[in-house]
Amino acid sequence: MRVMVIGASGAIGTRLVPQLTGRGHEVIGTFRSPGNVERVRASGARPVVLDLLDPGAVRRAVLEIRPEAIIHEATALAGRGFSRKLDRTFAETNRLRTEGTDALLAAAREAGTRRFIAQSFAPYRYARQGGMAKTEDDPLDPAPPAGAHETNAAMAHLDQAVSDAGGIALRYGGFYGATGDQLARLVRKRRFPLIGDGGGVTSWIHLDDAAAATVLALEDGRPGIYNITDDEPAPVREWLPVLAEALGAGPPRRVPSWLARLIMGGVMVMMTEARGASNAKARRELGWTPRYPSWRQGFAAAYRPQEAVAV
Ligand SMILES: NC(=O)c1ccc[n+]([C@@H]2O[C@H](COP(=O)([O-])OP(=O)(O)OC[C@H]3O[C@@H](n4cnc5c(N)ncnc54)[C@H](OP(=O)(O)O)[C@@H]3O)[C@@H](O)[C@H]2O)c1
Repeated sequence: MRVMVIGASGAIGTRLVPQLTGRGHEVIGTFRSPGNVERVRASGARPVVLDLLDPGAVRRAVLEIRPEAIIHEATALAGRGFSRKLDRTFAETNRLRTEGTDALLAAAREAGTRRFIAQSFAPYRYARQGGMAKTEDDPLDPAPPAGAHETNAAMAHLDQAVSDAGGIALRYGGFYGATGDQLARLVRKRRFPLIGDGGGVTSWIHLDDAAAATVLALEDGRPGIYNITDDEPAPVREWLPVLAEALGAGPPRRVPSWLARLIMGGVMVMMTEARGASNAKARRELGWTPRYPSWRQGFAAAYRPQEAVAV
């Protein structure tokens, strides 16, 4: 297929492009920062610079390339610190997920593009009650924490718009495997504490596994939503010490819930109440088997110094 990957220079894009070309697909990789042209070319894609927030440019690019498939992997999180105002950190990413998705869908319709896949997110979104591993049919959090409303709404918009258009929204787990990632930086500096009992559950995914599932979704996925997460959603108190060890950091500090609430506000419930996601549908329908079924092996493999990949 002729596939247009939006965000080809990013953490997932750079893993995805070689897997697509390895399966015989022709890839056009878009990026925004001019300095990334060689990175995209080296990954095996034909590089095209494109600002997803410019709907006219999106339309022109898609009509010119006439891709058979579009995969939207653009986010804008690099270098942005996390705070109690998650919506501020995610403001541009939220626009990429709403305006960007809408512009791509409109252009795809006009160009006759048959397949459409977009990056969504699984952790911290499902209702914070009941079972710990939610399926795609389980309800989302009806009352997201203050400071995260716009971010949750943007993801919901993407899920809905893409599904309605007959495309596929991939609710990835938390990505890991990039040495430059913000979480690894914080954990190395012991600035990612264990809050309260650390009972909030996170679902993770190694970037290579996320890319592999994306290729399968492109080739065989049915319209709708898939959780692309590993087999072991786990509470922070379990995965954080393992991550710290994999990174060669000291053990995480502890912060009581009341203090965390003062500092972080409502978003701290992600660390104490969140639910994870089940990957059963992706395993069943896509025939996908993660190479790293648990973050237990994945963190160790991803952050071994000789295997770490800078993005
Ligand atoms: N599921 C998850 O856990 C998850 C999801 C997203 C990101 N992250 C993490 O967050 C870190 C930083 O991520 P990031 O958001 O900077 O993502 P990234 O994956 O490093 O890059 C995002 C991609 O989107 C492109 N992009 C950004 N703004 C754009 C725009 N206006 N128009 C078109 N393309 C645009 C970027 O292009 P240029 O680089 O050329 O500007 C890049 O190709 C990474 O370590 C990543 O793993 C995690």
